Amino acid sequence: MPASRIYSWTGTFDALEPEDRTVAARLVAAGGAIDATAEDIAVRLGNARLVALLRNQGTDRVIAVGSLKNPIPGYRAGRFELAGVPILGFEAAPELGYVAVAEDMRRKGHSERIVGLILDAVAEPAYATTDDDYMKRTLVKAGFAAVGGEWPGGRGMLSLWTYAPAASLPETRPRTSPD
Ligand SMILES: CC(C)(COP(=O)(O)OP(=O)(O)OC[C@H]1O[C@@H](n2cnc3c(N)ncnc32)[C@H](O)[C@@H]1OP(=O)(O)O)[C@@H](O)C(=O)NCCC(=O)NCCS
Repeated sequence: MPASRIYSWTGTFDALEPEDRTVAARLVAAGGAIDATAEDIAVRLGNARLVALLRNQGTDRVIAVGSLKNPIPGYRAGRFELAGVPILGFEAAPELGYVAVAEDMRRKGHSERIVGLILDAVAEPAYATTDDDYMKRTLVKAGFAAVGGEWPGGRGMLSLWTYAPAASLPETRPRTSPD
């Protein structure tokens, strides 16, 4: 399907029509990365800072979803502890998560587009965790880097990925040569 037939939407979960909220939450639940019901996932998406969707222009069907979450500090710190890396610089970082593409629409670059939409709204360091090899490729392409070690999750071995946009890095002064 040509990319022009797909259009994107970003905003808060609550701004979506109830039917779209249900479809988005079901898509994440069907992805299997999170051990929770679609109802629980809908509540969590409601707490997210931002949600991004891709839709098929002809049918208006939601085919991909992703979100930027504001995790509670203990949860965030726990991820960095599990990976065995210091949280320095990521103490308040949002988490990219709940990325899922409808099964019949996978392998067309939609996860890359969803992650790009979310990162367009991120001016500060962010992180993600995943156990999915395809998601890892998407994260690498988006500028995330794997840090630390893996740990067992509900579905597979999880790893921690961090992202620091250029604008969020401390300014480095050019080295001056001694006179
Ligand atoms: C992970 C997921 C979001 C990827 O979405 P997608 O739109 O199919 O991924 P993309 O088309 O952007 O492909 C990403 C990379 O994975 C590769 N890939 C994706 N599906 C693949 C497959 N079935 N076989 C081989 N490679 C595959 C792509 O080739 C691409 O790599 P490349 O750029 O190096 O070629 C999707 O598989 C999914 O929804 N999985 C279930 C939910 C999940 O696990 N989400 C991650 C939670 S953290």
